[in-house]
Amino acid sequence: MNNGDRPILASFDLKKNYEMESGKLEVLRGVTLEIRKGEMVFVTGKSGSGKSTLLHLLGGLDRPSGGQILFEDEDLAEKSEKQLAKMRSRRIGFVFQFYHLLPELTVYENVLLPSLIAKKQDRPWIKEVLKRVKLWSRRTHFPSELSGGEKQRAAIARALVNRPEIVLCDEPTGNLDEETAASVMELLSELHKMELQSFLIVTHDEEMAKRGNRTLRLHEGILVPPEKTFSAV
Ligand SMILES: Nc1ncnc2c1ncn2[C@@H]1O[C@H](COP(=O)(O)OP(=O)(O)OP(=O)(O)O)[C@@H](O)[C@H]1O
Ligand SMILES: [Mg+2]
Repeated sequence: MNNGDRPILASFDLKKNYEMESGKLEVLRGVTLEIRKGEMVFVTGKSGSGKSTLLHLLGGLDRPSGGQILFEDEDLAEKSEKQLAKMRSRRIGFVFQFYHLLPELTVYENVLLPSLIAKKQDRPWIKEVLKRVKLWSRRTHFPSELSGGEKQRAAIARALVNRPEIVLCDEPTGNLDEETAASVMELLSELHKMELQSFLIVTHDEEMAKRGNRTLRLHEGILVPPEKTFSAV
């Protein structure tokens, strides 16, 4: 890993509070991190430690209470909702624990849709992506006609279809049995090696996290030990 590379995504002193009747809940209390081009970085931490919150902020799905997020040196705070939506659809891929596939669309259509929205339709590439996740033979299936691992592979294909610079995955294997989880993780590793994309992957699974270049550990709203003490592999 070339540490001289510019980061794709960086946060500085990132904070997120939720105001509730019972008081203020400080979920993120100052998270500073950098993800460089081509890195596969894992985020671990106990349930409720703020992993999903962090991913949502970094992906522009939610706004922070404080601090700064830079995506390729562009400050997300300066972007309108419309600009954020455009950035999300073209430059960031999302993979969620529960797949979020549209039930009334086939696998092929689920993967095609983000490319239509981004006006980047490229049918040969869709075929290639579906082959990479080994779902070309299932392309006419509806999500209800897929296994859990297949659904997640379809969601991964959908996340990759617009060739995003970074793929954010929130517990992509959390809903799968051990064997299927391992195969999905293997696939993510392979895909990561094929392109120069960066991956940021939230997981509970410390074993899984060993596959990455680095692991960021969230505890009580901060990264512990500080990210800088982890050296890139
Ligand atoms: N919209 C919200 N309003 C109030 N509190 C919230 C909201 N969203 C999340 N929280 C709280 O913020 C904390 C962090 O939530 P988050 O979903 O980021 O945790 P997590 O690390 O992803 O947990 P898990 O491993 O269970 O998915 C939790 O205590 C949660 O209850
Ligand atoms: Mg979560």
